[in-house]
Amino acid sequence: MTTRSSLITSRPGGSPLGGHSSLQFQTLPPLSLYIHIPWCVRKCPYCDFNSHEARGELPEDEYVAALLLDLEAALPRVWGRPVLTVFIGGGTPSLISVRALDALLAGVRARLPLAADAEVTLEANPGTVEAEKFAGFRAAGVNRLSLGIQSFNDRHLKALGRIHGAAEARRAAELALRIFDNVNLDLMYALPGQTPDEAAADIAAAIAYAPPHLSAYHLTLEPNTYFHRYPPVLPDDDTVAEMQDALEAQLTAVGYQHYETAAFARAGRRSKHNLNYWMFGDYLGIGAGAHSKISFKNKCLRESRARQPKTYLAQAAAGAVIPESRDITVAELPGEFMMNALRLNQGFELSLFAARTGLELTHILPTLDKAETRGLLTRDYQRAVPTPLGRRFLNDLMQLFLP
Ligand SMILES: C[S@@+](CC[C@H](N)C(=O)[O-])C[C@H]1O[C@@H](n2cnc3c(N)ncnc32)[C@H](O)[C@@H]1O
Ligand code: SF4
Repeated sequence: MTTRSSLITSRPGGSPLGGHSSLQFQTLPPLSLYIHIPWCVRKCPYCDFNSHEARGELPEDEYVAALLLDLEAALPRVWGRPVLTVFIGGGTPSLISVRALDALLAGVRARLPLAADAEVTLEANPGTVEAEKFAGFRAAGVNRLSLGIQSFNDRHLKALGRIHGAAEARRAAELALRIFDNVNLDLMYALPGQTPDEAAADIAAAIAYAPPHLSAYHLTLEPNTYFHRYPPVLPDDDTVAEMQDALEAQLTAVGYQHYETAAFARAGRRSKHNLNYWMFGDYLGIGAGAHSKISFKNKCLRESRARQPKTYLAQAAAGAVIPESRDITVAELPGEFMMNALRLNQGFELSLFAARTGLELTHILPTLDKAETRGLLTRDYQRAVPTPLGRRFLNDLMQLFLP
């Protein structure tokens, strides 16, 4: 997935928030397509994405065939609905050849009604970049590139176990911005041994390229990673807060809008794909370990696919990719909506809740009141917006809405 984990664990049962036990959509939410490419050159020690070290040649032709089989089997669940954005994430999608990507996107277009102005993003790692390849990806239909820079500092890149150094990060950023009109640079801060000055220098280096979009992620120690088992020394909470304030000030001073916890964009350049997640739109996810959320007239379901590329490929070779699927309960829906919408700094229009969950607003009104009383959120008759305190303690705010 592209956003850091937003799934909550399932706890079936009735709604503690009171109200009704069924949902009903007037109009279905906008639909996005996510395509997962599960391989990387090397696994980074902090990474909990479904990414696997590529040993030998990638089975890219088989994988593209499996993706298209997967897509075809899912079509009845999204029949006739236009797809507004496509995100090819990983893993490291820039590892696959232009030929394979071209076949993939041609196959997608032949099967799904892609909107004429669809945003088509591809994730790339600076260690896998060539001008010719980028130009080929663009010709195949990619119109937005998301580059995993992480840092422009050799020492920190090394501590993060990245396959590239600062010079390659710079070269990749230059190349991406030369070849694509729409580019995102991913940075991380609060890195092992990083000082506030070094974090600020990374942001300044990114700003110098004037990318339309920039993501600044707080490095987190995720379970089941090398860093979780052998934690490096990280900056303390006060230092991290200082870094956060400084990077927000740096970026907003030169015209970036801080629109989501980790996302900054120039006017008109917000990530349409990620906004659809945060606004609790629908998405079909194909590929190893991909998740989907798909709404129907009176239900909303989640799907997930086999995480191991080998298992996924074996299912396809046997004739069908079989997603696990279950309905999201009425009790879970408000929490799932809020886990996404509260990430947006401008909050959400209250009418969006009913539009995207099929539930009445009464399901969350008592909890919105509670959050407001605690100073975590403000609300008028139109919008609910997290306060600076709510943004600082976002997890506490979100927890209030969980069943
Ligand atoms: C799937 S990766 C992007 C593309 C490519 N695989 C790469 O790393 O260059 C998505 C982004 O999530 C961020 N990320 C991954 N693990 C993280 C962690 N533990 N804490 C914070 N950010 C993380 C990184 O900035 C990374 O670029
Ligand atoms: S290159 Fe990206 S997806 Fe792959 S292991 Fe590193 S952070 Fe994870």
